[in-house]
Formats: sequence, C-alpha cells, structure tokens
Amino acid sequence: MTERLVVVGSLNMDLSVTVPRLPAPGETVSGADVVRGAGGKGANQAVAAARLGARVRMVGLLGEDAFGVELRARLTAEGVDDSAVATLPGAASGLAMIVVQRDGENTITLSPGANGRLDVRALESLTPGPLVGPGDTLLLQLEVPLRTVLAAAGAARAAGALTVLNAAPLPGPGPSTAELLRAVDVLVVNETEATGLLGPVADADAAEPDWPGRAERLRELGPTTVVITLGAAGAIAVGPSGRHRQPAFPVEAVDTVGAGDAFCAQLSVALGTGRPLPEALRRACAAGALAATRPGAQDALPVRAEVDALLAGHRR
Ligand code: RIB
Repeated sequence: MTERLVVVGSLNMDLSVTVPRLPAPGETVSGADVVRGAGGKGANQAVAAARLGARVRMVGLLGEDAFGVELRARLTAEGVDDSAVATLPGAASGLAMIVVQRDGENTITLSPGANGRLDVRALESLTPGPLVGPGDTLLLQLEVPLRTVLAAAGAARAAGALTVLNAAPLPGPGPSTAELLRAVDVLVVNETEATGLLGPVADADAAEPDWPGRAERLRELGPTTVVITLGAAGAIAVGPSGRHRQPAFPVEAVDTVGAGDAFCAQLSVALGTGRPLPEALRRACAAGALAATRPGAQDALPVRAEVDALLAGHRR
C-alpha cells in the first residue's frame, strides 16, 4: 500500500535559547533557560502535514539515544507512520543548537548525527516496497545526503507522484544539485536559497529584486513550479498558471523556527489534494505565519482549523 504524503528527511532534537540579540563572532551573550523540543526539517514537515489533515509516512534515521526515543514518540503521538524510521545502533540523533533573538530572528548550528547516514542503501532498506505511488506526494528537504534526496525524487517521478523539494539548507553548487532540480516538480526556497541556486543575477543591485523573474529562471533549471518565500513580504509562486503573489498575514512573530516547514507542508498538502496554486500559496502563507507566533518548531505548528480561521479573517 502506498501513502498520501511521504517525507524523506531529518529528525533533530532542537535545543533553543532566547537572547536579547544574536552574538557577533567571538562574542558571548547570555540568554534564557534552554528549551528542548522536537525538530528537524523532515520531521517538522511530516508533523505539520499530519496536523493539516494528511496521511503521512516519515522515512529517516534516529540515533540510539534518549533524544531518538523522544523524537519517535512525538511522531507517533502526532499520527505520523514511523514504520520507515529506523534507530541506528551506536549513532547520535541529529541535534540543532538554535539561538533566537527576541524579535524572532534566529541562527541554527546543526549536528546531523544519524541523518547524515541516510544513504541510498539505507533508504532502500527502509522502504523495500514502493516509496510512493501515483497521486501521492513526496516532500523533501536537504538535511539528509543529497544523493538520497535525488534517489527518492527519481523514484517518485517514475511512480507518477508529485515531488516537492524545500531546498534547505542549501548545499554548495554541484552536478547533483542541478540533477535534483531537474527531478522535482515543485521547488520551495527562501530569498537566500533562490539567489544561491541561481548564482550571479542581473538584478543584483536593484532596490527590489525581481523575484518572479528569478523564479522563472529557476523554472528553466527543471521544476514546473517555483515558490519563493519573502519573509514579511509574503511569497510568490510561478507555475503553469502564471505568476502569483501572496502578501504576508499580519501576525506578531515570536520565533520563526519551523515557519518555513509549516509553509512547505501546507503547500504540499494543498497541491497534493488538487488545490490551485494561488490557493495553495495563500494557505501556505497562513500556516507559516501561525507557526511564527509560537516558540519552538513542532510545538508551534498549526492545525488545519487554525489555518482556516486565519484565512476566514482576511480577504487576501
Ligand atoms: O526548519 C527548522 C529546523 O531546522 C529546526 O527544527 C532544526 O532542527 C533545523 O533542522
């Protein structure tokens, strides 16, 4: 049996500390008590999609430690199928050290642990049957090895599934990145990632970058649809139906960790269930905005009713 939405990706324990301002290199800044929470772009997107109503299967690796036990328990409590999440003997779980400035801005230092060992062979042994089937959605990020992401995208394309790639964190340019862009249907990036994937851009000195133009250029590299998140300016999408822009929903951001994950999950759930691109974009912006209003990653992810309520209160 195949699943509706499959995530191949990372699971991390997040250790977060809130500070008055982010430290400069070489500087020490005192902050509040450390808060521990379930995270990892893969697991965040899996949990977000489940909260938004999808039937979700996660594929990934945990370490043989207390964090791994906690992260798995969180997945199952959220209704995510963890049967393709293995515990790697002797390995440490992925760990993210997060520093959050009071206005919500953050920095993340990642120790991939077991996530870094999700190679193509591990992927094949975790999913002996078909990874996805026709009509399913595969949601990918780049916190596990690029070759594995590429193999998963190839399998999804062969099966006739929709493949969504959140190209974060961005790897250095290389042949695998180019190959990956050719293998996915929908690409989701932020401003930095969009610029990093394109390399030098003609409008580099413009006061307002031509984001739809950059999205068109990214489409030429392979994806049918390109979505660029623009923080407080909302998001744009360019696809077969044309160019679309969605302003941000006005919310009070306290912690933007996980906001991008909520966005990607909602976009994937909406597109995977046949909603038109402008509507999927609007729902994704609402989900991302809601996630930014609460601290933490998985703890902050909204449920479908919250997204519906936010949308109902705004005409655009
Ligand atoms: O996207 C947010 C996530 O990035 C955090 O949960 C952290 O684990 C890092 O992977």
